[in-house]
Amino acid sequence: MNNNNGSKEVIAIIGGTGKEGKGLAYRWAKAGYPVIIGSRNEEKAQAAVNELKKYLDSKDGSSSLLFGKTNKEAVDICNIAVLTVPYEFHKSILQELKSNLQGKYLLDVTVPLVPPKVSTVQIPPFGSAALQAQRIVGEGVKVISAFQNISFELLLSENKIDCDVLVCGVDIESRELGLRLVSDAGLTGWDAGPLENSIVQEGLTSILIRINKKFGVHSAGIQINGVPRS
Ligand SMILES: NC(=O)c1ccc[n+]([C@@H]2O[C@H](COP(=O)([O-])OP(=O)(O)OC[C@H]3O[C@@H](n4cnc5c(N)ncnc54)[C@H](OP(=O)(O)O)[C@@H]3O)[C@@H](O)[C@H]2O)c1
Repeated sequence: MNNNNGSKEVIAIIGGTGKEGKGLAYRWAKAGYPVIIGSRNEEKAQAAVNELKKYLDSKDGSSSLLFGKTNKEAVDICNIAVLTVPYEFHKSILQELKSNLQGKYLLDVTVPLVPPKVSTVQIPPFGSAALQAQRIVGEGVKVISAFQNISFELLLSENKIDCDVLVCGVDIESRELGLRLVSDAGLTGWDAGPLENSIVQEGLTSILIRINKKFGVHSAGIQINGVPRS
């Protein structure tokens, strides 16, 4: 699944200037993936790259793996596109990038939150944001769903993250890719099955937001227990 030359896949993050996008970009650049931060505005993308480079080590070369481009240019170059935009823009950005995404993997991180009731689960059209994404982009794009339950603050920290990631995907190969991206980001992933199951992890975020509010924290997460860990 790597590039032909054996190096790691190029990842483009649509809306990568935002909180979650920057957190994921940081983790994957640190793991050796070339990462393109995408934005509607190239200068904003470049500013996000400059900000993130301060977190990365120039000695190990990871800071040179970050690039900034428009969303369209980023998707054109990548092998794996990652979507990190607020739910209200999910449909419009996917419609805009549909042709650029063909033949690629799309990892959807979107949580279908509908402000102001963000701590109440809302089921979007087609059953989940991930299923909606697959419906919009069509069968030429393999959709994966993950990271909805991991806060950007955890991703940007150096600490070990004691939260797990549920990974859904259109087929086993897509889920295996999703699990590798989770593992390379420093987390434990679980194969949570087909995209139809994605509503569970998308909905869990509203419950975690509720728990965050009650306990005055920012990064409540989940862990799977009862299974031996390697
Ligand atoms: N924040 C978290 O801890 C967290 C955790 C798990 C999942 N998520 C999910 O990840 C997604 C992103 O969350 P976030 O907190 O990173 O959001 P955010 O910081 O508010 O926004 C992310 C990016 O969305 C882009 N955007 C804004 N309006 C847009 C529009 N009209 N069309 C296209 N793109 C637009 C912006 O990029 P440009 O202006 O550069 O185009 C912005 O930087 C959400 O679905 C969220 O539920 C977030």
